[in-house]
Amino acid sequence: MTNITYFGHACFLIEFGGKKLLFDPFITGNDLCKDIDINQIDADYILLTHGHQDHVLDAEAIAKNTNATIISNFEIVSWYEGKGISGHPMNHGGKFQFDFGTVKYVSAIHSSVLPDGTYGGNPGGFVIWNDQSCFYMAGDTALTYDMKLIPVLCPKLSWAALPIGDNFTMGIEEAIMASSFIECKHIIGCHYDTFPIIEIDRNTAQTAFESEGIDLKLPKVGETITL
Ligand code: NI
Ligand code: MN
Repeated sequence: MTNITYFGHACFLIEFGGKKLLFDPFITGNDLCKDIDINQIDADYILLTHGHQDHVLDAEAIAKNTNATIISNFEIVSWYEGKGISGHPMNHGGKFQFDFGTVKYVSAIHSSVLPDGTYGGNPGGFVIWNDQSCFYMAGDTALTYDMKLIPVLCPKLSWAALPIGDNFTMGIEEAIMASSFIECKHIIGCHYDTFPIIEIDRNTAQTAFESEGIDLKLPKVGETITL
């Protein structure tokens, strides 16, 4: 079982293989995260799906606090290395065995630029596994047929975090289709409610997933769930 703490938007802290993996930290800029103190967050690795501010805002501060290693695409890791932060660069289709498990960097249909305008490479998602569990962190993405490669190339998914807020990413209907493409029935919704244009009705989302036999979890900010 994996402990997963939600820090709003697309930010998760996941305890995996004895390490703490922090994804897409955007906390100090998120009104819904007023009660979260980034100085209390411990991380061994910070995984960034793409360069947008709403995914990287607090990465530098947390990396410097914790000495965490950044895992992302080559361009984003290079940008952080210029700030004195160590990283492990990847690119699409590649996988690497870390001390907590295997990470595969997979496709996302989106865009990616760093907050100062530096080119942020191509956006991605992560599939991460060890002999206990396998999960997919989709990042910001449209529904894409590339998702069908995940069950072909990776172990069976235990769970996945998918964006459901629409406008910038998939909405609810397409996230349900994505769940089918990736052959996974345990989904955590993210990338919703942070801004007015991605507000959703939680009940509508729950009902829509349930009607397709998919368990949708929508943890509260700061809540830890186990999957
Ligand atoms: Ni984005
Ligand atoms: Mn985003």
